[in-house]
Amino acid sequence: MDNAKRKIEHIELCLRNDVVFENNCEDYFEEIILIHQALPGINYSDIDLTTRFLGCDLRAPILIEAMTGGHPKLKNINENLAKLAEEFKIAIGLGSQKPIVKSNFDPEVIETYKVVRSIAQSVPVIGNIGITLLHELEINSIMKLLELVEVDALAIHLNPAQEIIQPEGDHNFGNILLNKFSDLIKELKIPIIVKEVGHGLSMEVVKSFRAIGVKFFDVAGACGTNWIKVEALRNPENSVKRDVGLLLSKMKWGIPTPISLIESRWIAPDAYIVASGGVWNGIYAAKLIALGSDLVGVARPILKTLIEHGYSGARKYVEKYLEELKTTMFLTGASTLRELRVKPVILGPNIRYYIESRGISVREYLDKSRCAHID
Ligand SMILES: Cc1cc2nc3c(=O)[nH]c(=O)nc-3n(C[C@H](O)[C@H](O)[C@H](O)COP(=O)(O)O)c2cc1C
Repeated sequence: MDNAKRKIEHIELCLRNDVVFENNCEDYFEEIILIHQALPGINYSDIDLTTRFLGCDLRAPILIEAMTGGHPKLKNINENLAKLAEEFKIAIGLGSQKPIVKSNFDPEVIETYKVVRSIAQSVPVIGNIGITLLHELEINSIMKLLELVEVDALAIHLNPAQEIIQPEGDHNFGNILLNKFSDLIKELKIPIIVKEVGHGLSMEVVKSFRAIGVKFFDVAGACGTNWIKVEALRNPENSVKRDVGLLLSKMKWGIPTPISLIESRWIAPDAYIVASGGVWNGIYAAKLIALGSDLVGVARPILKTLIEHGYSGARKYVEKYLEELKTTMFLTGASTLRELRVKPVILGPNIRYYIESRGISVREYLDKSRCAHID
């Protein structure tokens, strides 16, 4: 199946509620406890959500995660996502740019991505390719992809769980990719963000990429859109791949977002870290920022509300999200993101067990994450 058609199929499947991790990891998020302050010591009107990302001032610490582009039918979605990013002054990612390569740089296909830059002029726009594209693309072609759309950074996604269940997936994830990646990072003039797509980054992976100079990570943990399930459903009924995918997704394969954030921050205290994967309300966002993320990313709910309720629906979703984040900050007595980062956090037994089993000291982590990067 060609890449653009697959993207349309992915979007249709992503709107189904059964492709989301069960309970949106409610149990893990409940285990991140912020302390209620009966005298917050601040006025609500003083709360300031601004931050800096990729050299731009953002009005709120939010990234519309990579989702779409590549087929003329999808241009309108990107147009609306870009409008949203520009209106709220938040960052935005493009969907995988592979369809541009596969269409031999067809101007109509390019336009479905370029429209984002033309609308979202004052916020960071992030390009996107999968790491396996490094098997087939020379550095020059990657540079061309980025120049065409004038992006501020390139996100390279690692998606082995998706590819292995995808009927037409690429199964070659050998370490040769790390060498190619290392060559690329030396040549590119813009930052590279290493991201997962919904099964989480582990400390081993963050360590490998940090060692070759990567300073930006997007954890995309296993709490939101479940790509194993999406791909399993694309396989024919009764096929082995479908059964393997359904079993893995029943077992909730992947690293839950809060854990993936802790693993990443533990290894890379100086990196810029986006927490995404089921971070679908502003209260979860506040918890993850307090736990060490610089930004939070949201994909599926924005797309779903946009498709089902139009631009005004998506707008309302973002407004509510900001209100939830601000309210949580108010009740903890944090008037800025930096203040939120140093507020006390209590972690419940399952998170503690998980991270201690990975050799992370809870006390040391909480001290380290307080001092970690935030603009
Ligand atoms: C419809 C859809 C398409 C996506 N396409 C891409 C993509 O092309 N490249 C990528 O890196 N991630 C892609 N993602 C993954 C998101 O960027 C994000 O990492 C992941 O969905 C977790 O966010 P969520 O739980 O808020 O959906 C896509 C997600 C959705 C919902």
